[in-house]
Amino acid sequence: MTEQVDDICVRIVNPRFLELVCSEIKAAGGALPFDRYMELALYHPQFGYYTHPGKRIGKDGDFITSVSTGRCFGMLLARHLATPIRRLAVSGGDLLLVEPGAESGDLAVDMMNELARVLPEDIYNRLCYVACEPILSKKKSLMERFEGVGGGRFRVISGWQELTASRGVLIANEFLDAMPVKRLRWRNGTWLELCVGNGGEGENEFNEIEQLIEEQELKSVIDSLPVTLEDGFTIEVNMGLERWFDDLSRAFEMLYCCLIDYGLSVDEVFDPVRKTGTLRGYVRHRMCDSLLAAPGITDLTAHVNFERVRVTAQSAGFEAISFTDQHRLLVNAAKSWLLEIEADGLPDAETVKLLQQFKSLSHPAMMGAVFKVLEMSKGMPEGDHCVSIR
Ligand SMILES: C[S@@+](CC[C@H](N)C(=O)[O-])C[C@H]1O[C@@H](n2cnc3c(N)ncnc32)[C@H](O)[C@@H]1O
Repeated sequence: MTEQVDDICVRIVNPRFLELVCSEIKAAGGALPFDRYMELALYHPQFGYYTHPGKRIGKDGDFITSVSTGRCFGMLLARHLATPIRRLAVSGGDLLLVEPGAESGDLAVDMMNELARVLPEDIYNRLCYVACEPILSKKKSLMERFEGVGGGRFRVISGWQELTASRGVLIANEFLDAMPVKRLRWRNGTWLELCVGNGGEGENEFNEIEQLIEEQELKSVIDSLPVTLEDGFTIEVNMGLERWFDDLSRAFEMLYCCLIDYGLSVDEVFDPVRKTGTLRGYVRHRMCDSLLAAPGITDLTAHVNFERVRVTAQSAGFEAISFTDQHRLLVNAAKSWLLEIEADGLPDAETVKLLQQFKSLSHPAMMGAVFKVLEMSKGMPEGDHCVSIR
């Protein structure tokens, strides 16, 4: 199955991009750190997976996300996040609902439609949805998408430094899993860094290289890793988290964050079932055998280490509020909606569709258990700003 996928990938990958990656490998002395490879493969302005104009997410793309299942996800997240938005509103001034990794803009539109219904008018009128998108081509298509729905309540920025208001609520769905990661491997009693070399079978084909760790920042990371693992145990480390949370913290005086992703709790990172790591490549809803066969064609993604996210965010001034799964979050958020449906009597066709989406999103055997939710805040006004989830 996957052999066929890799065959497709190799045939359509851009040869100019392969040459470009080869020259980066050469410039790096023959071993390119995996996070740089992943950055090129996903975000190269011309050839990167996330920069091409085609459809990536949804049934006719490479993978689905909760957003692409339909508007139920945004509707319920809006109901959930209405609580911290109301709390922030107490302190006056502009209110922002911000989203990094907005991709199609569907979540933005779905959430704002629902917030218009559930928030008091005076609070909704102060709210602006801000998508943070550094890639110019994607920024333009997001702006077009928002213009198509009236535009006025939406903004697209390239980075947090462009913000003028400093209080808001952040929603990020499957954003952290798309950040470039380093790969580390426990080998013969020491941690090594997995890099990308140019020694694959054909010309311009890549291979994995295990390198001694010289970089001080990475040495500090491995100091805190276990040393009683099976030989070959492989993990991913997101070294970009510190900078990302520092930038966010600088931009916001008050912020409530809701981070949703598939990922690992503290007990799961070193579970022997994940000894080959969690990095995966997807093309057309199939997992690829080789992570290096098709840069720019393959979606590369790694499970999020939520404990590392929590600790990093804490160092940047955030406080953890809750860590739960999508099942609990959505079931809790859906209570008022389900009561409304019950009171209305027989559900119409649209409601039936939303209920089906709700089942896919929240059922523990579907998307409910695999997706985790970490909520954090910084500088929020005193009071009950989160819905407690058990
Ligand atoms: C897996 S997709 C998720 C898209 C969408 N949130 C959803 O759930 O359908 C990851 C998204 O994060 C974006 N992304 C990655 N790094 C980013 C960054 N530093 N700032 C903003 N967006 C980023 C990618 O371009 C891509 O749109």
